[in-house]
Amino acid sequence: MHTRTVVASATALLGTASLLLPLSPAHGADRGALPLVVAHRGASGYAPENTLAAVDKAAGLGVDWVENDVQRTRDGELVVLHDDSLARTTDVEEVFPGRSPWKVKDFTAAEIARLDAGSWFGPAFAGTRVPTLEQFLRRVERHGRKLLLEIKNPKLYPGIEGETLKVLSNEGWLDRAHLENRLVVQSFSADSVRTVHELKPGVRTGLLGAPPVKDLSAYADFADQINPPHASLSVGYVAAVQGFEGPHGKPLEVLTWTVDEAAAARRVAGFGVDGIISNKPDVVRDAVGG
Ligand code: G3P
Ligand code: CA
Repeated sequence: MHTRTVVASATALLGTASLLLPLSPAHGADRGALPLVVAHRGASGYAPENTLAAVDKAAGLGVDWVENDVQRTRDGELVVLHDDSLARTTDVEEVFPGRSPWKVKDFTAAEIARLDAGSWFGPAFAGTRVPTLEQFLRRVERHGRKLLLEIKNPKLYPGIEGETLKVLSNEGWLDRAHLENRLVVQSFSADSVRTVHELKPGVRTGLLGAPPVKDLSAYADFADQINPPHASLSVGYVAAVQGFEGPHGKPLEVLTWTVDEAAAARRVAGFGVDGIISNKPDVVRDAVGG
């Protein structure tokens, strides 16, 4: 049983929690630290998302954690890209006009390497490429940063969990130091998160979304974090999540997304979240510290 004693009361407080719990970042039983700040898709408010330039920008801002999205090419290379199509963030429609709808899974790594993934964001980033996961890991490592790695659309890519872990291992990201405090693997798919946990139990994991409190006990068997969108978040929900113990014997954490405004950052910090994921991590840090 992963439920700590606080959970029953926290669960019971849902709905009335905002009246009963103090709106302080330190409301959690053994918490009190400032929320960590995560650069969403890199510092994607300032550089094209999921590129090495976005990692560089996050590092330049002094942000410790970078988030990314991982998918797979037709020939099995893991690449860093958010959408299942290349159309929004590259010039694929010009380079390969006959290949609509330009799905990542239908292009080889060599074809994707030809694309410009920066011009859509601004001329200063012309020529920026879609990085492979390997390239992305090396850049994060070079900057001494930490990675919140999202397995995106895992249903499209059977076996991607094991392949992601293989790349992480090859790049030295599954050693003790990385496992302890430099890596979390997350997904919207509970099945995918569970698979990562079963393949490499030492890896910390996160489940994206806001599952009902009644389901948290089951998720706490294999997820260390529950990472919900910020708009519908409440102090009661955060406390309820944090009342469960995760697979590594620590309270579940809550990292919320995507917060780009100072007021919203202060609001969720007041709920006691453990982390805030932001396209503009400097704005969040200035608002709440962390
Ligand atoms: O890390 C949270 C966030 O990335 C989840 O949503 O769509 O930006 O991948 P999305
Ligand atoms: Ca993501």
